[in-house]
Amino acid sequence: MSPVPHHIAIVMDGNGRWASKRFLPRVAGHKQGVDTLRRCVKTCAQRGVGVLTVFAFSSENWNRPVEEVSGLMDLFAMALTREVPQLKADGVQLHFVGERAGLSSKVIAGIEQAERATAANTRLILNVCFNYGGRWDIVQAAAKVAAEGKPVTELELGRAMALAHVPDPDLVIRTGGEQRISNFLLWQSAYSEFYFSDKLWPEFDDAALDAAIAVFNQRERRFGKTSEQLASQAAFSAET
Ligand code: IPE
Ligand code: IPE
Ligand code: MG
Repeated sequence: MSPVPHHIAIVMDGNGRWASKRFLPRVAGHKQGVDTLRRCVKTCAQRGVGVLTVFAFSSENWNRPVEEVSGLMDLFAMALTREVPQLKADGVQLHFVGERAGLSSKVIAGIEQAERATAANTRLILNVCFNYGGRWDIVQAAAKVAAEGKPVTELELGRAMALAHVPDPDLVIRTGGEQRISNFLLWQSAYSEFYFSDKLWPEFDDAALDAAIAVFNQRERRFGKTSEQLASQAAFSAET
């Protein structure tokens, strides 16, 4: 079996267009998106992915029409209660990443309960970025470092970031055809490989995920070095 990226991050975009194409309300697209995510989590666990981070609601998504925002909040609260028992049984450790201020007390209670219930799981870490923005994360990390009187270094900022419990993503996938970051993992994606899919998120099936992983496996990650350096490093580690 070919190797899989340890940490995959996904901008799950295109739910609204998926629904509009079918003359359905946008929220129907988000509902379908939850089904796609459920399956994607299962497949990632089966493929041996260690960490999956998904973008579910951005700091800027509050600017959508009120009906859509409240539909998304209701769906999130419902998914929290519905999905957690199975995720727990499947060995998934859940983390909710983002600003808690602004979320309802019901949603916050659901988040805390889900994190507690799955804390001992080790098969797959699932980070759900909700009310998240990469800029928010950098600012909250800087504020934390300053409040603790620590020096502002990459190490200290990295430790204060909301995703400090996992290594940086190896592969960032965005569905829905747009080729932009939309305030996702600004700090953590410094050396991630990017993969853009024209498929709308509800259509992103196992074959599409495997295609993204296959493309990832063909990339050469140089981290600032040269190809020649990488080749001699590989030859050296094969010898030893
Ligand atoms: C992504 O799908 C989900 C959220 C942003 C919550 P969209 O709702 O952005 O779908 P499109 O991009 O309008 O099709
Ligand atoms: C990014 O999608 C946010 C999520 C998928 C949650 P958007 O649909 O909000 O991004 P833009 O507005 O097209 O950049
Ligand atoms: Mg969108």
